Amino acid sequence: MDLEGLRHRFGGPNVSFRRGPGELTAVDVEHEFGSVSVAFNGAHVLDYKTSRGDSVLWLSPHSNFVPGKPIRGGIPICWPWFGPHSTDPGLPAHGFARLSQWTLSRIGSPENEEGIEGVFELSSSDQFKSHWPHPFHLTYAVSILDGSLDISLVARNLGEQPVTLSGALHTYLGVNRIDQVEIRGLEGCDYLDQLEQLARKRQIGVVVFDREVDRIYLEGPERVQVTGTSAGIPMELLSRGSRSTVVWNPWIDKARRMPDFGDEDYLQMVCVETANAGPDQRRLRPKATHELGVRIRPVMD
Ligand code: BG6
Repeated sequence: MDLEGLRHRFGGPNVSFRRGPGELTAVDVEHEFGSVSVAFNGAHVLDYKTSRGDSVLWLSPHSNFVPGKPIRGGIPICWPWFGPHSTDPGLPAHGFARLSQWTLSRIGSPENEEGIEGVFELSSSDQFKSHWPHPFHLTYAVSILDGSLDISLVARNLGEQPVTLSGALHTYLGVNRIDQVEIRGLEGCDYLDQLEQLARKRQIGVVVFDREVDRIYLEGPERVQVTGTSAGIPMELLSRGSRSTVVWNPWIDKARRMPDFGDEDYLQMVCVETANAGPDQRRLRPKATHELGVRIRPVMD
């Protein structure tokens, strides 16, 4: 649907559509509880501001903003696999959901809470068959609620065979200085170190950053807290349908190697990803669904 069609169908006092950033089309939703911008490319949340106007997410100024290319920052949807494809290195890292054009199906009130939500959808079609032959339907709800952003990715297996899924809601949080950030809640958890061929290690104390970190925490808690955020208040991530949390910061050398990431940008972001990664893969029977969700909110106490 073009911009005029979108405005006609969904536009209103709180909802506007634009071309941009770059070549992308995005929707901006404003509410007394906060505001959010989502690009149709990847149903990618670009920005979330709390009711106080504090920006919670980090978005790379060096990102590509081109249909079919991943966006660096915000909340990419990694699906139906996390990281490199398990057998075919030629397939896109983190799956194709973040590269695809999603359809907006609804903007309105969430079912059980006050606020406003936008619902996006993506279905199997011939363009995905070479990557993923299994029929599927994805529903992605982005909701601004009182004091939080809630996102929910529901995958339905429309095929006759079971499928195995991995993925992540790959949240890039903005931080003031990465070397002053702490992630609380993962103390004592085992993790797979992606920088050492998935060596299994145990987290001692809170997670701090003084080097590149790329870890899949296993059997972690539903709730983790991140201090030192650019929103000026600790943020809490409360996950659903996930037993693994990915924590990533590329640090200095990898930042220099990434074309869509500034050399100093590693100082200002941390990824805390609500994931189905490592051994946390989900097998979906025919017609079954799986929800991966996260609620992101400032810690008020
Ligand atoms: C993280 C992975 O989830 O995403 C890292 O754990 C990876 O290994 C990072 O480097 C970014 O991935 P991409 O494909 O967006 O560059």
